[in-house]
Amino acid sequence: MWIHNPVMLDQVLCYLDIRRNDRIVDCTLGEGGHSFQFLEHLEGGKLLGIEQDDEILSRATKRLQEYTDRFGTPPPEVENLFYAVRIKALAAKAGIESVSTEDDLIIIRRFQGLPFDKEKLSAVLRDGIEVGRTQIRINFKKFFRIWKRVLEELIAKLVT
Ligand SMILES: C[S@@+](CC[C@H](N)C(=O)[O-])C[C@H]1O[C@@H](n2cnc3c(N)ncnc32)[C@H](O)[C@@H]1O
Repeated sequence: MWIHNPVMLDQVLCYLDIRRNDRIVDCTLGEGGHSFQFLEHLEGGKLLGIEQDDEILSRATKRLQEYTDRFGTPPPEVENLFYAVRIKALAAKAGIESVSTEDDLIIIRRFQGLPFDKEKLSAVLRDGIEVGRTQIRINFKKFFRIWKRVLEELIAKLVT
């Protein structure tokens, strides 16, 4: 398998001068080439990687698996950040202009001229989700514990 080699690795490591307890955010994780080397320098520290492309992210996840095992699962704040990045990336692919909250509703709006296709969404529709031409309204109270999954499923359906 072809693996992307990190560019200017020596210079990056020299400039960052990583200490073992540092907290690092790699905002362009890619296949994790740089991050793999950063992790080599961490002992008690943590690394958060952000990647917009699901396929590339899964390659990085495999490459960095050894370190995930060593440090355990990320804390809730980091999981929330991962979730937000995933939703943003999916929303961009699905032509979604905004995801907002109003009272007990989560409202998904699409860019003008891109109406929602109810048939396409039929597999994930259920009581508590209303689909209009330009808005989807999710009743937050109805999905109190699972709203994140419901939102992600809906947006993912609009991509495919
Ligand atoms: C050159 S690659 C990074 C390579 C990585 N440093 C390595 O060593 O494997 C840049 C990556 O950043 C990702 N990327 C670019 N803009 C992004 C954004 N706004 N949010 C998340 N990821 C982004 C791209 O999908 C791409 O995989």
